[in-house]
Amino acid sequence: MPRPEELRLTEYGSEDSDYDEDIFNNSIIHSYEKKKSRCTRGKICGVTMLGVTLLLTSIVVTVTVYPYFPRSCDTATGLLPGDIIPVHYDLWLYPDLTTLTFQGKVEIQIKVLKRTKCIVLNSLDQNITDIKLKQKDGTLLMTEDFSFVSEHEFLVIPLRAKLEEEDYTLVIEYEAEVRHALKGFYRSYYTTSSGEKRVAAVTQFEASYARHAFPCFDEPQYKATFTISIVRDTEHTALSNMPKNATVAYGEGGLLLDTFEKSVKMSTYLVAFMVMDFTSRSTTTSSNVLIRIWSRSETEHQTEYALECAKKLLEYYEGLFGIPFPLPKQDLVAVPDFNSGAMENWGLITYRETSILYDKKETSNSFKRRVVSVIAHELAHQWFGNLVTMKWWNDLWLNEGFASYMEYVASDVVKPEMGMQMYLQKNGMQRALSADSFSNSHPISSEANNPASIAEMFDAISYRKGACIIRMLNEVLGDKLFYEGINSYLTTYEYSNAEQGQLYTAINETAKHMDQAIDIGEFMGSWTLQMGYPIVHVKLTGENKVQISQTKYKFPGEVETESPLGYKWHIPFWYQTNEETGSNNFLWVSEDSVEFETKENTKWILGNSLARGFYRVNYDAENWGKIIDLLHNSHTVFHEVDRMKIIDDLTSISQVVDDVDITLALEASLYLRNELSLYTLTGSLTSLSRIIGKLAVLEEYGDEINSFFLHIMEPVVKRIGLEPKEDDDFQTGLFRGEILTEVAQHGYQPAVDYAHKLYQEHISTGQQVEANLYAFVYATVAMNCTEKEWEAIFQEYTKESLQSKQRYLMKALASTFNVDIVKKLLKYTMDEKMIRRQDARIVLMHISMGSYPANYATWDFLRENWAFFYEEFGHTNSGFDLLIESVIGQFYKKEDIDEVNKFFDNKDDLGSIERGVKKGLEAASHRREWLKKHKEHAGGWLKVNFPRD
Ligand code: BES
Ligand code: ZN
Repeated sequence: MPRPEELRLTEYGSEDSDYDEDIFNNSIIHSYEKKKSRCTRGKICGVTMLGVTLLLTSIVVTVTVYPYFPRSCDTATGLLPGDIIPVHYDLWLYPDLTTLTFQGKVEIQIKVLKRTKCIVLNSLDQNITDIKLKQKDGTLLMTEDFSFVSEHEFLVIPLRAKLEEEDYTLVIEYEAEVRHALKGFYRSYYTTSSGEKRVAAVTQFEASYARHAFPCFDEPQYKATFTISIVRDTEHTALSNMPKNATVAYGEGGLLLDTFEKSVKMSTYLVAFMVMDFTSRSTTTSSNVLIRIWSRSETEHQTEYALECAKKLLEYYEGLFGIPFPLPKQDLVAVPDFNSGAMENWGLITYRETSILYDKKETSNSFKRRVVSVIAHELAHQWFGNLVTMKWWNDLWLNEGFASYMEYVASDVVKPEMGMQMYLQKNGMQRALSADSFSNSHPISSEANNPASIAEMFDAISYRKGACIIRMLNEVLGDKLFYEGINSYLTTYEYSNAEQGQLYTAINETAKHMDQAIDIGEFMGSWTLQMGYPIVHVKLTGENKVQISQTKYKFPGEVETESPLGYKWHIPFWYQTNEETGSNNFLWVSEDSVEFETKENTKWILGNSLARGFYRVNYDAENWGKIIDLLHNSHTVFHEVDRMKIIDDLTSISQVVDDVDITLALEASLYLRNELSLYTLTGSLTSLSRIIGKLAVLEEYGDEINSFFLHIMEPVVKRIGLEPKEDDDFQTGLFRGEILTEVAQHGYQPAVDYAHKLYQEHISTGQQVEANLYAFVYATVAMNCTEKEWEAIFQEYTKESLQSKQRYLMKALASTFNVDIVKKLLKYTMDEKMIRRQDARIVLMHISMGSYPANYATWDFLRENWAFFYEEFGHTNSGFDLLIESVIGQFYKKEDIDEVNKFFDNKDDLGSIERGVKKGLEAASHRREWLKKHKEHAGGWLKVNFPRD
């Protein structure tokens, strides 16, 4: 059964939320907080958990039950007041990996910019045992009792007298838990091959979790330097952003204290430290930066590839940005429990294992591509994000969009065989356009003023649309001006913060000698300040005239929210015609409608050539006809990226523009039978699922859909063959498995048999299935397996220590058509011993995408256990929003949609999943409307063209 939409499973934008082990909520310090006092389930609460010794030595400061703030302690906005800024932090930590608690002491040198009677900083879930405020000469100043404002995660320290505009030192001692949730300073577990359980303590601070580990000014504009020291035992290694400076004995018990060099000036969300027993391999770049890849020792041999990529990429970026990497070392660490894909902490980048480990024999080409692109992404942040940081989270897209763009640009340089420019189109552009077509999308630059709304910013719009519009800017400027502008921006604002306007100013300055037709800020603003994108309508009017107009892409009947720019864009329009064959013919379309002349004998025109602009192109019927004829008769007239874009635009536009018939898209897609570009072929199949996926819900078209797909796919299967070959190129290896999985799902017997054969061989000889066929073999076998076979695969999953293979096994386990078996897996997602918490939402997503009955089962399961999942994933961006959106978005029956509405109606606070629910409901209603309107027509086309035997 075809999947209704491409599996929009992303690792980004995903972090974990509070868990029910927030042991400090009942401590005396939090006594006035009304928020979550969840110290239940037989857990030891409060400070007692920290152990007797610690308790005896700690000075517990009592706090007033009702906080008293002097008048100046205005905390209403939820943002730090800005009258005090941090200059330097000395952070001392003593984590205990047995009790999973830590003691901390932070000394913050602060500068008072405006006289104030109140110190406000961020802190969460810390048991504060002492606070001191010192003047420059060391004299202690009196403070009032401190309090917490839990709603804003503030620690408020009122003062007896106003602080002068001078420097002070704030010293805070505290105790806290090495958390269970995958954020702040948290624990990660792994088991060695001999069955020993090990623990590591690691950090994840973006976006607002540094405050979970130490009291600090946790907003990106408060940059400061950091000197970090960590107490550890001899079995463990401690790492931080900077290289280690010194190790000395600590106390009598054989402990050591590592102190790291003072950092460069940086934002709190980029601070990182960890204590673990991993091993590393290292290399040095041409500019003498030490690069080390760390992982649990059993996977050390899987770090070579990452090492090679990291070295090449770092060297490449130093040249590209014209700025040397400022730190002496760059560590990259594979963390066994990691909520998102990776995190760009300066000098100490952390990764999910699947984003960094690579085994020549066991890792598929797909994960090989993932590894290089994640490394490229995080290393790009070292400049774009770390050196220059957005002033506030509303400009997150600058960070994430730029790094996402670099994933493709830089990987393409170090791994040209991977086809990263095509991947940008398939993974970046197609998905961004899809995500941004909803009326519940949002402008890329949006307000975000609290942790939940900040978390919501880490979405496809910031990342994928961000990447696409930065690329569009690059294409408009050309490489030279673009990178000169970037260099000027980075050097102007290094170790500081900037807003998007300042990027544009830097580029305008750089480009001023060029005869610029348009102001960069105005051009880019039209893409960042309003949501959505245009359809550019192109009409050949005869006499070699072309008329171009723009309208917002929107579904019929959609009510537009207002846009400050009236949904008009500055559109860079590249085109190609039969007479002007290059792809660089260009004009700006900034008005509602524009007319221009082409060469004589122009018979057809293709807009947005090389798919550089973030928009779709629609044509008059005749021009569509000619483009489709060309696809059928000489498709190589168009670049492979254009072919993919044509099918994507056509299938998408046929959903919203009445004049463009759905069957036109189906007709056009038949050319894919001859498509040799595997990116274009597979990317176009995803686009086609917009039509086929909707019909597939109804089952009555099952056979026709299968023949339609097999008609398109059979030639490619014949061409590349079932079996891997010695001389397969990268992309053939990459796509064979994906293609075979698809055809097997549509009932292509040779592929089904082949999967079973390979599985049987594996069972009888114990030999591993080849990496690139692994997903295909297991998914195909699991599709129609017995419970016993399913259990056997589950056993393999439990024993597998390579997480990328585990991922494929999860997908296979989730894709069985037997819903009773699926229900078992649903339950496992609540049990960490069965499925790592980092993977729970991924498994749920796979299940819901597996089949329609499985989607219903997932919905029922989530509703039954809503409290658990909402508690676990609902508060921050855990990827849970994507899951909910996808589950709801597959519905089309009125009663189902009503039920969803009813379920969410009485839930007042949906936290960071609110937009997901809205988008899901919107997708369901589109699906419903579409079926009403097009079912007969599209289904009829299938029945005529692909009749049952
Ligand atoms: N800065 C993010 C990590 C992050 C994600 C922090 C979500 C807070 C919330 C990092 O640079 C990133 O974008 N990671 C991606 C991987 C990337 C290759 C798309 C991720 O985690 O998926
Ligand atoms: Zn990023």
